[in-house]
Amino acid sequence: MSTKTGLPLGIDVGGSGIKGAPVDLSKGAFAAKRKRIDTPERSTPEAVADVIDQIVDHFDDVRGDSPIGITVPGVVTHGVVRSAANIDKSWLDFDAEPMLEKKLGHDIVLVNDADAAGVAELHYGAAKGQKGLVILTTLGTGIGTALIHNGTLIPNSELGHLELDGFDAEKRAASSIKDVEGLSYPEWAKRLQRYYSHLENLLWPDLIVVGGGVSKDHEEFLPLLDLRTKIVPAVLENKAGIIGAAHLAQEYHDSH
Ligand code: BGC
Repeated sequence: MSTKTGLPLGIDVGGSGIKGAPVDLSKGAFAAKRKRIDTPERSTPEAVADVIDQIVDHFDDVRGDSPIGITVPGVVTHGVVRSAANIDKSWLDFDAEPMLEKKLGHDIVLVNDADAAGVAELHYGAAKGQKGLVILTTLGTGIGTALIHNGTLIPNSELGHLELDGFDAEKRAASSIKDVEGLSYPEWAKRLQRYYSHLENLLWPDLIVVGGGVSKDHEEFLPLLDLRTKIVPAVLENKAGIIGAAHLAQEYHDSH
């Protein structure tokens, strides 16, 4: 392990790519160009750890002995992945944090991808300074959600799996479903309307933030929604997971 102090890294483990960057926490921005490597076909913890190792090495000049935050598309409690809707099932109940710490030689914080994005939007983006309850949703392969109450993350909310019209909500309203079923924006917006009105009737949030890659096209669908809750696009787009993961890793490191 290096003894240089440096910048925390954020690593985003997704279904098709594993991406990482060092993060300048004073700005909430990448401090160097993001590095991306394809997710291995079988995304087991060991195979993913090998790719993360390459990404960490790529940033050898800036990382020092700083902590690394890693996002996964599943529930994480106490460093253990507990659900695997869109990742290899061998992550389930696997104690990943110690394995990654040993392999990478850094302090590791493992976090749900949507929770990391929520933390980034809270500190640097669309939810900054928002009082009360914020729900961040990421629309992608699945639907990820983060609940933040008065600036505190309530982790692992998993509201993409609410039941909607007899279906798992993400199987109706994720942006991947829009693509698979060839839905137009107005057709997809009808599904989002059902989803977000269900969400606001259950939780009465003060703000809904819409993230995920498709949020850059927000003008095509957000104006079609009729909700009582203010709904806005995420500001950090697909950088949010990496920035939030690095933020959480540094915060954890500083408090231990
Ligand atoms: C998973 C969540 C994840 C979301 C977005 C869902 O299928 O259950 O944990 O945040 O996809 O990746």
